[in-house]
Amino acid sequence: MNENQASNKKFALTTPLYYVNDVPHIGSAYTTMIADVIARWKRLQGYSVMFITGTDEHGQKIQRTAEAKGLAPQEHCDQIVTSFESLWDKLNIHYDRFSRTTAKPHQSIVKEFFQRVWDQGDIYLDQQIGWYCVACEEFKEERELTENGSCQIHTNLKAEWRDEENYFFRLSKYQQKLAEFYAEKPEFIRPESRRNEVLSFLKQGLQDFSISRVNLDWGFPVPSDPNHTIYVWFDALLGYITALLDPNDEPTLKNALSRWWPINLHLIGKDILRFHAIYWPAMLMSAGLPLPEQVFGHGFLTKDGLKMGKSLGNTLDPFDLLNRYSADAVRYYFIKEIEFGKDGDFNETRFVNILNADLANDLGNLLNRTLGMVQKYCKGKGPALKATEIDNNNPLKIIGEGLSERVRECLEALKFNQACEEIFSLIRACNKFIDESAPWSLYKEKKQAEVEEILYAVLESVRLAAYLLSPIIPNLSTRIYQQLGFSVDFNDFELVNRNFSFKDQTKWGNFPGNPNLSKPEPIFTKLEPPSDA
Ligand code: MSP
Repeated sequence: MNENQASNKKFALTTPLYYVNDVPHIGSAYTTMIADVIARWKRLQGYSVMFITGTDEHGQKIQRTAEAKGLAPQEHCDQIVTSFESLWDKLNIHYDRFSRTTAKPHQSIVKEFFQRVWDQGDIYLDQQIGWYCVACEEFKEERELTENGSCQIHTNLKAEWRDEENYFFRLSKYQQKLAEFYAEKPEFIRPESRRNEVLSFLKQGLQDFSISRVNLDWGFPVPSDPNHTIYVWFDALLGYITALLDPNDEPTLKNALSRWWPINLHLIGKDILRFHAIYWPAMLMSAGLPLPEQVFGHGFLTKDGLKMGKSLGNTLDPFDLLNRYSADAVRYYFIKEIEFGKDGDFNETRFVNILNADLANDLGNLLNRTLGMVQKYCKGKGPALKATEIDNNNPLKIIGEGLSERVRECLEALKFNQACEEIFSLIRACNKFIDESAPWSLYKEKKQAEVEEILYAVLESVRLAAYLLSPIIPNLSTRIYQQLGFSVDFNDFELVNRNFSFKDQTKWGNFPGNPNLSKPEPIFTKLEPPSDA
């Protein structure tokens, strides 16, 4: 057992549970890619990881979509769920649980949780009057609506007037407790801008919100009053808890909460911040449960600078992208190009340029040309050196030795683009180092030791970069490691943890002398510019 396996560090994280009104879009793919990178990074460090994703299947929006297709809601959900599973497969996402809110055990969890909140006196019957956006599944204030009477996000859909009896959750009761909680745990809402948003919302005073609907069948009945259906958001948030049940567990809160609760990180988009940063902790407080550690609200993706949407006809289909480009290419672009937390743009020309510059040229060519030089100048064998024999002033050694720590800091702070920058600063330094030290001339001058020192330093830097990039581009990292003579697959977490300890692999200078290198093969083929560029 190595130090990785001996650890009992745990990390649980979630994506939102995606609505199944339609096949997955790039926004869902974005959050899920980020979650996968974090999960892989934690696993590399020997954490036991619980990575939860899934689908949110109840409510009016889904019921209407199914009706429009002439399908029973469950049949509709089952169909759409397969496209989520297939997308995650194509994107090389390794989740641990897929939580569906129509799963049987979920009903028991929702019922038990509802009862706990009820027993606290936090649920009461009242009249709900106001505008409802079915696409958001949320009541809106009149001042939040556009001139056309829609919400700000779903501008092609009018909000509907509702005047009905609903059960309400006493959110207002938790105003003070929430304020104290945010003050005690400033890290709870990230980034800072989202935290400020929540704090200013809190300042306006929290209103109780309705947690049941009438005239809606598609959902779980309120236990004490089956004429009411539990509000889709109340039900969906609890999907994070149900996900924690093991397959053979009896579906009780006690079982679900026994191993992984509280969740360390909820990843969400900025439009569902209020639900996760205000409603959810208040619901948990009411039920007497510990609160999650962090909610991170990321930005929105645009396409060619414009908001993506069906009405504009400029949605970006993740399936289409993955039919044309590899999973690693897609993952790399979104991780490296967008500052996590801010809005980000997709532009196909830029996509191709970045991938060609970073993955094909800077990284791929570097490995290829270095292995080519090893073939020529070292009779095919790798350099016979050890890291200790590398001069302390070697520029790659200088950058390489502190790199893992810098990358660790970036990744822990969820600054993914900066982590990529750090790693690529080493890669770029390698290319510069080769060009400036010209091993081909040194070889002619019969300076074999110098040639080998250069090649060793470069190969070791590429190895380290590939290891640190493995959560982002696991397939490319695998190919690089294999060409460097290691038998590894970065998608096989057990194998990696067994044979490649984080501590060893993150050290610059871990590369063995006389490595068992293979012949150079291109790892990333240069992409053609898009036809309409
Ligand atoms: N079902 C709820 C979540 C319940 S969690 C208990 C939901 N689903 S959703 O499918 O509509 O949205 C899922 C996620 O996609 C949200 O985090 C949302 O922010 C994100 N995105 C939707 N459009 C997006 C972009 N254009 N860009 C980035 N993310 C976007 O809300």
